[in-house]
Amino acid sequence: MVGEESCCDNYIMAIETSCDETACAIVKNGREVISNAVASQIKTHEKYGGVIPEIAAREHLEAINVVIEEAFEQANLKPKDITAFAGTVGPGLVGSLLVGLNAAKTLALVHDKPFIGINHLTAHVCANYIDTDLKPPFIALLISGGHTQIIEVKSHSEQIIIGETIDDAVGEAYDKVARLIGLPYPGGPILDKLAKEGNPHAHKLPDAKVEGYDFSFSGLKTAVLRLIQQLKKENGEELSENIVKDVCASFQETVSATLLKKVKRALEEKGYKQVVLAGGVAANSEIRRKFSELEKIENGGYKVNAPQMKYCTDNAAMVASCAYFSTNTFDDVDVEVFSRIK
Ligand code: KG4
Ligand code: ZN
Repeated sequence: MVGEESCCDNYIMAIETSCDETACAIVKNGREVISNAVASQIKTHEKYGGVIPEIAAREHLEAINVVIEEAFEQANLKPKDITAFAGTVGPGLVGSLLVGLNAAKTLALVHDKPFIGINHLTAHVCANYIDTDLKPPFIALLISGGHTQIIEVKSHSEQIIIGETIDDAVGEAYDKVARLIGLPYPGGPILDKLAKEGNPHAHKLPDAKVEGYDFSFSGLKTAVLRLIQQLKKENGEELSENIVKDVCASFQETVSATLLKKVKRALEEKGYKQVVLAGGVAANSEIRRKFSELEKIENGGYKVNAPQMKYCTDNAAMVASCAYFSTNTFDDVDVEVFSRIK
C-alpha cells in the first residue's frame, strides 16, 4: 500500500492483462479514476467460443503500448507524475499476465518509481472503492468467470474466504448454459438480457444443497441441459425465442436466489452491516436487483455496494485502487506471475 494518509495526491498507473482485456488506468488517491483504457479481445475469441490463451497473449502484446499511451493521454499526465506502477500478478492466464506484469515492472524500473504487484481477485473487490467512501469491514461476494467466493473483508490487510464454489464458478455456469442454448461467447451478458424478458418461474430448477457458505453450480448446469433436451423433444430442435427467454430467466432466478441466500446468512451469522458485489457477474441485472433489496429490510437494512458495470468486468482501475488500499501486495520486481490462487 502506498498510503491512505500521505500528504500529497497519489497517482497509481496500473496494468491488467490476466485474461482477454488489455487494460491500463490511472487512479488518484485510490478512488478517482483519471483515465481508463481497455482493449477488448472479445471479437477475436467469439469465433472460438472461448478464450484461446496463446492468441490472448499475442493480442496483449499488440495492444499493451497503445493502452499505456492512451491512459497517459486521457489523464494528461507524464510518467514523472506517477507515484507507483502496479500490475496484476495472478491468478490468470500465464502468457497474458506476463505481458502486463513485465510492462508494469519496466515502467517502474525505467522511471525509478515503486512497483506494486496485485492479486486479481483482491482487485475485483477493490473496484468497490472507486467513486465511493466505502471502508471495511464488509462481506464481499466475488463472482467472476473463474471464481465464486464469499469473503470477510475485516480490514485492508485481513480478508478471509469463508465460502467458495466446489465446482463451477458462477460466470463459468453462465457461459456454459449460454453455450447450451446456442448463444455466443461470453454468454453471461446476453443471457442476462434475454432473462429480463422471460418468466423466472417458468421452470423449477434445483438449488444445490451445499454445506456452510459454499456453492455448487454444476448440477444446475446439467439440469438446464436436461430441460433443453426435454423442450426440444416437445417443441422441435429450433426453440422459439420465448421458450429460450423462459429458460434464461429460470436459470438466472435460481442462481441469484442461491447467491443471495448464502450471503444473507453470512451477514447475519457473522454480524456484518455492509455487503459488496465484485467480479464480472456482479454486472448482472437480477443479482444487482436482488442484493439492492437488502437495503430495504425494515429495522435491519444493509449497506449494499456494487461497482459501476465497467469496473465489474476486468479493468485496470480496480488494480490501481487495490495497489492504493491493500496491504497484501507483491512489491518485489522479481515476483513471478501465477495461474492459480496463492
Ligand atoms: O471478472 P471477469 O471479467 O473475468 C474473470 O476474472 O473471470 O468475469 C467474466 C465473467 C464471464 O463469465 C461473463 O460471462 C460474466 O463475467 N458476465 C456476466 C455478465 N457480465 C459479465 N454474467 C452474468 N450477467 C452479466 N451481465
Ligand atoms: Zn476478473
